[in-house]
Amino acid sequence: MRLNEAPVFGHQSARPIRLVVLPLLFAFTLLSAAFAQAELTGFWVLRVPTGDGNYRETFFQLYQAGESVTGKVLLGSRELPIHDGTFRDGHLHFVVSMRRQNQERHVSYDGALEGSRILLTQNFPGREPVKGTAERTRPEAAFPPTRLPIPALHEVSDNGLARTPPMGWNSWNKFAGKVDDAAVRGVADAIVSSGMSKVGYVYVNIDDTWEGSRDRDGNITTNRKFPDMKALADYVHSKGLKIGIYSSPGPKTCAGYEGSYGHEEQDAKTYAAWGIDYLKYDWCSASRIYKDEDMRAVYQKMGDALLKTGRPIVFSLCQYGRAEVWKWGAKVGGNLWRTTDDISDNWQSMETIGFSQFQIAPYIRPGHWNDPDMLEIGNGGMTGEEYRTHMTLWSLLAAPLLAGNDLRAMSEETKGILMNAEVIAIDQDPEAKPVKVVNQDGQTAVLARPLKDQSVAVGLFNRGDQPAEVGVNWSVLNLPVGKLQVRDLWKQQNVEASGNRYSATVPNHGVVLLKASVTP
Ligand code: GLA
Repeated sequence: MRLNEAPVFGHQSARPIRLVVLPLLFAFTLLSAAFAQAELTGFWVLRVPTGDGNYRETFFQLYQAGESVTGKVLLGSRELPIHDGTFRDGHLHFVVSMRRQNQERHVSYDGALEGSRILLTQNFPGREPVKGTAERTRPEAAFPPTRLPIPALHEVSDNGLARTPPMGWNSWNKFAGKVDDAAVRGVADAIVSSGMSKVGYVYVNIDDTWEGSRDRDGNITTNRKFPDMKALADYVHSKGLKIGIYSSPGPKTCAGYEGSYGHEEQDAKTYAAWGIDYLKYDWCSASRIYKDEDMRAVYQKMGDALLKTGRPIVFSLCQYGRAEVWKWGAKVGGNLWRTTDDISDNWQSMETIGFSQFQIAPYIRPGHWNDPDMLEIGNGGMTGEEYRTHMTLWSLLAAPLLAGNDLRAMSEETKGILMNAEVIAIDQDPEAKPVKVVNQDGQTAVLARPLKDQSVAVGLFNRGDQPAEVGVNWSVLNLPVGKLQVRDLWKQQNVEASGNRYSATVPNHGVVLLKASVTP
C-alpha cells in the first residue's frame, strides 16, 4: 500500500478501514512481540562488590520467547544452561544446576525488570541470598578472550624443592574471601608460637582473593585487603617462614579475581620481586579457553616462567586431578598436583577423597607429590576421631600437610592432631614409598606404608558407624627377620606385639596407626 492512498482511509467505508486497520494491528502485534522479546534477550552482567575493591561478575545470556526464558549463566569458569525459565508479569525466574562434590546443586534466580535493569536475587543453597542489579552488557564482555597459542612441550627441569611433602597453612578452607593481611600475619605468628613451625609447618599460603586489577603496564596489583605484599612477605620471612600465593592460568580465578592469562612471565617476576616462595596455580576459567589436552603446555608455561625468575618457588598445580596429571605434573616443573575436587569439612567428603587415592600412590617421588587437598582439621565439621583419620590418611599417602584452620585459635585437641611428630614423620619419610592396601572391605581398611628405616607404618581404619575389630597379620608386611617392636603413634606408646597378629577395637570413623619395626 502506498502512502498517498492514505486520504481514502478517511471514508466511511467498512472495507477500506479493515484494509488499513488490520495490517496496522498486525504490524503493531509483531512490533510489540519483538519489543517484548527484546525486553530480556541479550547479555547481562551482575556485579556484586566483594568489599575489597573488586566485583564478582556473573554474566547472563538470555533468550526470551513470550513467557519462556532460556540461555545460560556464565558464572566464574562455568557456562551453565538455564532451565525452568519464565518471565511472567514482569517477574523473571530461572534455575541452573551445577555439580560440586559429586552432588547436584541448584541455584535459582528471581528478578524484576525495572526500566533497563533487572533487580536480581541469586539463591545459593544453604547461603544467604545475594541481591544485585543486572545491566545490559556487550557480548564480548561475557566471553573469554581469544585463545593464545600454547608452547611446544618439553621437560621443565626439576627446581629441587619439596623433597618431602610441603607443610604449612593455606587460607582457603577457613577464610575463603575473608583472608587479609592481618589474618596472614596472625597465622604466621601462631605457626611459630604454637610450635607448628618446629615440627615442620613452614609455608604460609594465601589462596584466592588477594588480587586487584592490573596497572597500566599490565602488572598485577593487590586489592585493599593486602596493602603491601612485599612488606607482608618480609614479615613472614622474618619469622623464619615462607610465603605462598595463588593464581590461575585463565583470565579469572575461581572466585572471579584477576588471573595470569597472557601475563604468565610478568606475574612470575612480580611474585619473585615480592619474595614469594610458593605458587598454587588453579585451572578455573582456563577451562573456557583451553581443552584438557592443552593443560600440560599451559602449566609448562608457568613452570618455565617460575624457573626463569631464579627464585626458588614451589609450583603447586590445581586442576582437580584431570588429564591424569600424576603422569605429567613433574614434567611441567610441578612439585605437587591436586588429585581431586575440593575437600569440605565433613566426614563424607574427607573419607571419599582419602580412600580413593591408592591407585595413584605410586606416582609420588621426592619433589613431586599427589595432593588430595588441604586439611580441614580443627574447622569444626568432624569429630576428633575423624580428624585423626584425616591426618593419618594424609600421612600414609605422603600428602602435603597444609593446615586449613584458624591457627590463631586452636583447641588442644587440634594441636595434638596437627603436631604429633611421630605421625608427621610418616608423612615426611624421605624415601617416598607409596602406601599399599593390605585389606579393604568397605567398612574397614588396613593400609601399610614401608619407610626408609625398614619399618612399616600400618593404619587400621574403621569407616563404619559402629566400633569394629580391625587387625593385621605381621607376615603380610614383609618385615626383615628379627625382634618386632610395635608402637601406637596416636597413643605414643609401645604395644604388645607377641604372636602373629595385632588386632584392636577401632572406634567408628576412627583409626589405629602403628609403626612396626624390627631390630636384628
Ligand atoms: C578452587 C580450588 C580451591 C580454592 C578455590 C579458590 O575451588 O580447588 O582449593 O583455591 O578455587 O577460589
